[in-house]
Amino acid sequence: MTEIAKGLEGVQFTESKLTFINGSEGILLHLGIPIQEWAENSTFEELSLALLDGKLPTATELATFDAHLRENREIPHQLIDVIKAMPRGINPMQALRTAVSYLGLLDPQSEDITPEARRAISIRMIAQFSTIIAAINRAQEGQEPVAPRMDLTHAGNFLYMLTGHEPTSEQARLFDIALVLHVDHAMNASTFTAIATSSTLSDMYSCITSAIGALKGPLHGGANEAVMDMLDEVGTPDRAVEYISGKMDRKEKIMGVGHRVYKNFDPRSRVLRDYAEHVANKEGKSNYYQILETIEKTVVDRLGDKGIYPNVDFYSGTVYSDLGIRKEFFTPIFALARISGWCASVIEYSEDNRLLRPSSVYTGEKDAHYVQIQDRQ
Ligand code: ACO
Repeated sequence: MTEIAKGLEGVQFTESKLTFINGSEGILLHLGIPIQEWAENSTFEELSLALLDGKLPTATELATFDAHLRENREIPHQLIDVIKAMPRGINPMQALRTAVSYLGLLDPQSEDITPEARRAISIRMIAQFSTIIAAINRAQEGQEPVAPRMDLTHAGNFLYMLTGHEPTSEQARLFDIALVLHVDHAMNASTFTAIATSSTLSDMYSCITSAIGALKGPLHGGANEAVMDMLDEVGTPDRAVEYISGKMDRKEKIMGVGHRVYKNFDPRSRVLRDYAEHVANKEGKSNYYQILETIEKTVVDRLGDKGIYPNVDFYSGTVYSDLGIRKEFFTPIFALARISGWCASVIEYSEDNRLLRPSSVYTGEKDAHYVQIQDRQ
């Protein structure tokens, strides 16, 4: 019998120098550096460039990259018109997928798959994702898009374009850290999807629209929104134990916990929990935070020995909520960060490309014959 690696679990199909994960010990490294150090010391801009180039940038390299991002924040007016024409109430990930695909139609370089073109397109996309997502949010709320500001950081400018108000430096930095935590995560489903598309020598916009489609699903990027739905269902902290125990007894999945790779605490969830706790201590514990604390304790007590612990999505939603971001935009914000990881991974894989073409075990009939339609039962 041929062995099947269901869900491709444990299958290693390529090498990468970008991200290392040790799931049993809860370790995540980018370029060998722990995620906690990136979160504490770095920025979204720096980590993005470090992954694109495979090394820590010099001050000049980072300043040049940052300037390029700022210069490329504006999006074409035709794309703004398309975003405004989208139906109200749609899933913003559908809107993002369509907008990025349309952006490709407007880019004369889109079909160029040389390494230089892939890098140039990546920088533009990293910059423009933020303007696109903010514009989608505004259009869905029936408001005019807010033009980007060149004097703000990537994170600060995004919050400004999303809400129309300049964030405090603490809010901008908190959001920056959330972005840093989500930039890359080795061979996750959406990165794999981007690489699968690029392996056919397709263009960057096709790679990224494929990845957006993969990230949209609730088992991947959609989980933090599902966590907020769960918190709203629980309602008050005193109901949390009963609610979550009932779910476990019925063998239902709890959103924001469990991970294909981590069988221990996801280190990103620890960083986010610390920030959520910091905000809770400063401003008084919100209902949400208290419910999450209780759910975490119950899950770890009852499912910890199965390797089920909170993942990055467990606390991210409350952090975003505190920043005034509505839950429908949590997954696009995941994409806002992960675009850098997708681009870096596609570029790295393209250096030694091989078409991805796995196989499946055929279990159907082998001696059937065509039956005329009128003779079928
Ligand atoms: N709640 C309760 N039990 C769980 C959960 C969960 N969230 N996740 C896994 N389990 C249990 C399963 O029921 C199974 O138990 P069994 O052995 O008794 O049948 C065991 O743990 C293994 O579960 P699998 O589903 O096989 O594990 P898999 O590696 O496929 O799951 C996944 C990973 C899909 C992320 C899963 O944990 C899940 O659905 N979590 C909830 C959704 C979520 O939070 N996704 C975000 C992931 S992080 C990210 O993408 C950024």
